[in-house]
Amino acid sequence: MAFTVAIDGPAGAGKSTVARRVAKALGFTYIDTGAMYRSIALQVLEQSIDPEAIETVSDLAHGSAIFLSPLDSMGNQKVCVGGRDVTQEIRTPEVSQMTSRISAIPEVRSAMVELQRSISRQSEHGVVLEGRDIGTVVFPQAEVKIFLTASAEERAQRRFQELQAKGIEMRFEMVLAEQIERDERDSQRAASPLKIADDAHYLMTDGLTIEQVVQKIVDMCTDKGYGA
Ligand code: DC
Repeated sequence: MAFTVAIDGPAGAGKSTVARRVAKALGFTYIDTGAMYRSIALQVLEQSIDPEAIETVSDLAHGSAIFLSPLDSMGNQKVCVGGRDVTQEIRTPEVSQMTSRISAIPEVRSAMVELQRSISRQSEHGVVLEGRDIGTVVFPQAEVKIFLTASAEERAQRRFQELQAKGIEMRFEMVLAEQIERDERDSQRAASPLKIADDAHYLMTDGLTIEQVVQKIVDMCTDKGYGA
């Protein structure tokens, strides 16, 4: 089994940026598990499927060919579903809200977990997975487990700036309110709620630079014997 780094935490904690950089630094495969759930949500929206129609959404999840490309030189990952590039489309606020709903469906989760484990098995050196349930459900035996977080205001501020950079107009108060709503749903759902694994390193990133956070995680991997 490849060396596994599990990075969990709430929306907007900087998991994605940090996980990509850690993967680059160590030459590991990067798996954005949120992008997988987002790909299902996009199809639910596009096909006007009722998110309460559990069986239809589950069939969609089991039948979807999701592909995550290796990171390019800029640290970007392309997300495809059924051969179609959906990298941009899966990042809208509408998709975020739908993702939070359909990711509460146990059958959807089992399909995604199966895919995450299967991609990880193919990885030669190691793998960095980011999500909500990686250290608790997907890879409880991961060598390094991180719970990455930041204060609600700091996280909403980062999300707000990201949306602005993409030209998506939304008031800050709205971003904060949606984030709080998603946080609640993600941590209170019955199936694999967001929670800290007993043996995870709790990393609060307020006031830390990305480089400092990445270095801390790379050091944890070295301490666990990677590269020794
Ligand atoms: O990390 P993100 O913002 O792309 O996640 C989008 C949604 O997917 C979020 O509401 C939580 C959910 N998610 C999940 O339930 N389990 C994961 N492993 C990853 C994401």
